[in-house]
Amino acid sequence: MCGIVGYWGQKKPKTVILDGLKRLEYRGYDSTGVAIFDHGQLKVARSPGKLSNLEEKIKDVEFSGPTGIGHTRWATHGEPSERNAHPHKVGSVAIVHNGIIENFREIRDNLLAQKINLQSETDSELIAHLLDKKLKEQKSLLEAVIEVIPQLHGAYSILAVNEKEPDNLIAFKNGPPMLVGIGQNEIVIASDIQAIISWTNRVVYLNDGDIVLSKKGTLEFFNAAGEKINKKIQEMKWDEAKAEKAGFNHFMMKEIYEQPEAIRKTMEPHIHLKKKTVELKDVGLTAEKLKKIRRVRIIACGTSWHAALIGKYVFEKIAGIPTDVDIASEFQYRSLIVDPIEAPDTSQTLIITVSQSGETADTLTCLRKCKKLGFPTLSICNVPHSSIDREADGRVYTRAGVEIGVCSTKSFTAQIVALELLALHMAGLLKFGVGENEITQMVESLLILPSQVETCLNHDKWFKEAAKSLSAFKGFLYLGRGINFPVALEGALKLKEITYLHAEGYPSGELKHGPIALVDQDMVIVAMAPKDDLYEKNISNIQEVKARGGQIIAIGTGEDEVLRSMCRHYLSVPKAHWLTYPVLESVPVQLLSYHLAVELKRDVDQPRNLAKSVTVE
Ligand code: M6R
Repeated sequence: MCGIVGYWGQKKPKTVILDGLKRLEYRGYDSTGVAIFDHGQLKVARSPGKLSNLEEKIKDVEFSGPTGIGHTRWATHGEPSERNAHPHKVGSVAIVHNGIIENFREIRDNLLAQKINLQSETDSELIAHLLDKKLKEQKSLLEAVIEVIPQLHGAYSILAVNEKEPDNLIAFKNGPPMLVGIGQNEIVIASDIQAIISWTNRVVYLNDGDIVLSKKGTLEFFNAAGEKINKKIQEMKWDEAKAEKAGFNHFMMKEIYEQPEAIRKTMEPHIHLKKKTVELKDVGLTAEKLKKIRRVRIIACGTSWHAALIGKYVFEKIAGIPTDVDIASEFQYRSLIVDPIEAPDTSQTLIITVSQSGETADTLTCLRKCKKLGFPTLSICNVPHSSIDREADGRVYTRAGVEIGVCSTKSFTAQIVALELLALHMAGLLKFGVGENEITQMVESLLILPSQVETCLNHDKWFKEAAKSLSAFKGFLYLGRGINFPVALEGALKLKEITYLHAEGYPSGELKHGPIALVDQDMVIVAMAPKDDLYEKNISNIQEVKARGGQIIAIGTGEDEVLRSMCRHYLSVPKAHWLTYPVLESVPVQLLSYHLAVELKRDVDQPRNLAKSVTVE
């Protein structure tokens, strides 16, 4: 989604802002712009398309001032065009905005009734008009912001500058993230740590309702009513926050290869190596609270929802707890029924949110709804200090490190592992799931998982060859059963996202209930068929597809001549415990999608229309 960067300091604002915007490209965008001081005036330059268009446009412009703001826009109101790009400058004020102003029609109608001339179709321009009206009443930018905030309904993070205050930057937010980086005599304000971390690791995260005013680099914080507040400076770890391609052609490939490390780091703090047990440390919810749990509800979107579906299998099978899984955008508008028999007290249902970014608007809204109703909440999240991480009662981190590719890869497999650890922890506490011996076996299977993932990665050339031979096909059906069904959903999503080919994921048993009608020699069927207790059932489904001429790609276990003889391509993963197959089977589907996207010359890291973190509903 949109990205914001602002700068005040001794460096050239153009350099810092363009560098920041470049680092935010991964979030997805379709136009860009800057407003930078030059000889006391704010010069605005905007451009549709890639950041390189804007760079070209301003390559010869020497901005003389110390202050500026910049933006990458992901279109919501109005097409991606120069006039809809940010910053929007009205009178002496220029703003950049992430989010959606929900009452924009009402504000626009009001402004139009006052004969105000609007230049764009955006909701964001209206904010600049509201601020401009206050500035014309001789108010300072801070006073203007305080008076405009109550007029804005919806989700926003906004950064503004005023031509009359050339050393000042002001930012305020309600929803999408915003943070302030404090350097040596310089300030960087941005929507994402990636735009800040090259310059400083000392940051302040803004909460909803916070306002920050930077005056010649001195910071003052206020609440929405204009009262002064204190904020804590946090020191970020440089290595964890920095994102580089490290010799890979794409971030996605680098991140696929980082999976063994991501899994290892996610497990490390929680597994007792000698006892072979799981003891989650610093969860934020006490053992007493967790012992009360009789139901689990997992809420997430996209890939994180697929991890949540795997979580349902493991919570039910390992911890013996009935578990529901919801897509956040659906859950937030449903009435939440408390189980009147098994878990009549809200403290008996644990709400788990799963989110890589910790900023997904739908998931965050659900978290807030559940907290209000009194449910204990726990987040599985990859970004410490993100909104979801901060607001949940408890947390288990996926320690996958920064994920830049729009396609979630390492965060997905780390989420699966985090959910499995949590289920094992709960089994140990509740004692009505699996017994100690089984826990030991599962812990052992997790401990060898990173090296098994490495084995899969070592066979990358199989996946590359398979992808080469599939690049002319247009339709893909992914099938899986039981705990591996969500991997089929994930495989189909990965393929859609980065190749733009049509793909669907189905439970293998559903094939005969409709999708089999699609099967002919032009349809590719990617079947998850590991050697688990559903193996024979999967073989039957593959036979049904073969009988109808479908092109079968099977992902099985080790050397499997039965499967190999039935398929166009047989791809294998090492023999494993049922618990770890979803992670192992994910690697081939990721690599297949990646190589197909490369074959088709797609923009792997920044696929069209997609945003890395969806901070609006
Ligand atoms: O940051 P989150 O995990 O909450 O994001 C949820 C989805 O937007 C995300 O998983 C999306 O589906 C990915 N692009 C999938 O690759």
